[in-house]
Amino acid sequence: MVQQPVSADESTWSLLPAVGDEWVSSTNRYIVATAVILFFLLSYISTPRLDPREPPLLKPALPLIGHIIGLIRHQAKYHVILYRRSRQSAVTLPMLTGKMYAVWDPTMITTGLRNKNLSTTPLLVSSTPPLTGVGKETMDIIRGSNGDCAMVDDILLKTGPAMAGAYLQQMNAAALSDIGDYLSQIDEASVPDLWMWIRRLMVLPTSRATFGHGDPFSKDPALEQLLFDFANDIPKLVLGFIPATIAAKGYYARAVLQKAFIKYYSSRQDEDSSTSGFVKVRAREFRGYGVRDDDIGRAEIMLPFAVMVNTFPALFWFFYHVMSRPNLVERIRKEVEGIASRTAEEATLDLTAVDKTCPLLVSCYRETLRLSNHQVSTRTVLKDTVLTDSKGKSYLLKEGTMVHFSICASLRNIEFWGEDVETFKPERFLRFGDKKDDVDPDRPGGPRAMRTAFIPFGGGQHLCPGRNFAFAEMIAVIATLTLGYDIEPENGTWELPTLATASIVDAITKPTTGKKLPLKIKRKREWKALRWRYRI
Ligand code: HEM
Ligand SMILES: *[C@@H]1O[C@H](CO)[C@@H](O)[C@H](O)[C@H]1NC(C)=O
Ligand SMILES: *[C@@H]1O[C@H](CO)[C@@H](O)[C@H](O)[C@H]1NC(C)=O
Repeated sequence: MVQQPVSADESTWSLLPAVGDEWVSSTNRYIVATAVILFFLLSYISTPRLDPREPPLLKPALPLIGHIIGLIRHQAKYHVILYRRSRQSAVTLPMLTGKMYAVWDPTMITTGLRNKNLSTTPLLVSSTPPLTGVGKETMDIIRGSNGDCAMVDDILLKTGPAMAGAYLQQMNAAALSDIGDYLSQIDEASVPDLWMWIRRLMVLPTSRATFGHGDPFSKDPALEQLLFDFANDIPKLVLGFIPATIAAKGYYARAVLQKAFIKYYSSRQDEDSSTSGFVKVRAREFRGYGVRDDDIGRAEIMLPFAVMVNTFPALFWFFYHVMSRPNLVERIRKEVEGIASRTAEEATLDLTAVDKTCPLLVSCYRETLRLSNHQVSTRTVLKDTVLTDSKGKSYLLKEGTMVHFSICASLRNIEFWGEDVETFKPERFLRFGDKKDDVDPDRPGGPRAMRTAFIPFGGGQHLCPGRNFAFAEMIAVIATLTLGYDIEPENGTWELPTLATASIVDAITKPTTGKKLPLKIKRKREWKALRWRYRI
């Protein structure tokens, strides 16, 4: 049937319900006309006047709140959606009557994260009361007598060195010793839910390595689930608006966790020799500035979050991507056999130079982080700053504006990674460190392009201090499982787990709890009854 072309008029007004009554119809027309005028008015009000050097404006379909709804709905992944649609390096997003910048170009993100004019401090400080509930006395110390927030910067500067060198070695040794003990108990096991199994495997080795003999998680097993409940509700808790009502689960979880941590710091468990430098050095700084023990316990509720909330889901995806490819498991097993030695009682894996001895294993680790990471690094512009993208175009970022650097957009940029950017490619990172690849290192997927865009741990001053600890834990588990066990899905086929929403406050996407991925794990005959040990 040939359709009549509809006139513009008809198509517009046909949106109205067909009503016989003249009066209703004209009322409807009035409402629509008012709505249209209001729409343009709102659109005008919400369109910020920009300096032409600022990133171009990306207007939402719905004025004022379109981008806010987008961020609430898609969370961190909203940036990838917008980036794919607009293909810009950076844009200005109008929000209510203000604006925010979103940066998606890998070069601009890397240089932006290093720029001292772009700071995490204002947001960190303003979100501390709703997030942690510390009192006014402590907030005064945090803000500093002249408002320079010196303690915040001081503590962050000392955190990196507190997770390096001998401190890192102590933490790795403690965690890997416990992980080895745990895995040593497994001979034949049915795993009903992979995500829960990973959490149970990792929680105590990780928390003991972090908090030492006084570790609150060892005393109360309920804290593990409460930590994830708290983490899930952080986006609501930071609003600071009737938290006990809108984020009841997280609010309760936080109260229980904080009670345990207040006890931990009040009894000075952080000063024990078994406690990691990470915890110890930070607590010492807090006390040096005069923060009371109970508020250290409240504020440091973010430590178990940082130590566990990204590593565990990352390990889940690492496990899934490797184990669901039997061929890959065989190839990695060959690599790990090369670093394994044994006595009558023990099997020891030498992880000291694992990037050289097990390149495929490490390539899969990196590829996992690339695909499971949704990190948004938020900064406030302290002084007008110019950033330049990979094509040499410069953008002005104006003082007082918030910036979202989407690390996820960098990790999924086709111009840096190539057309197969969404595919898990085990070999992708084999040439990552190849400094001699001078054919065209900047081609999509070339080693230099990858080194620019691969920033799963951020960069600059706030580069994740826990990255080497996370690496040690994840590599130890997957090396041991590929070498010593046969792992099969309960039903014979590997079902792809689904991703849960990607919260703007953490870096790694958790699996949904819907698909449980039941598995059978069985120790290989050659490695039966040996204790797992690691050289690091
Ligand atoms: C796979 C695991 C992990 C990933 C993907 C990850 C990712 C990140 C990223 C992207 C940042 C930078 C945030 C920003 O730029 O605003 C960060 C910061 C941080 N991470 Fe991690 N992280 C992981 C594990 C850990 C672990 C195990 C610890 C502690 C033991 C840790 C402690 C921290 C801390 C304290 C910061 C804040 C640093 C600062 O602001 O100066 N992370 N992490
Ligand atoms: C920081 O801001 C000042 C003032 O706008 C500017 O002159 C300077 O170049 C900026 N620094 C960097 C590293 O961009
Ligand atoms: C796998 O097993 C679970 C229960 O263990 C079941 O619910 C699911 O439907 C099975 N899937 C397939 C593909 O057989």
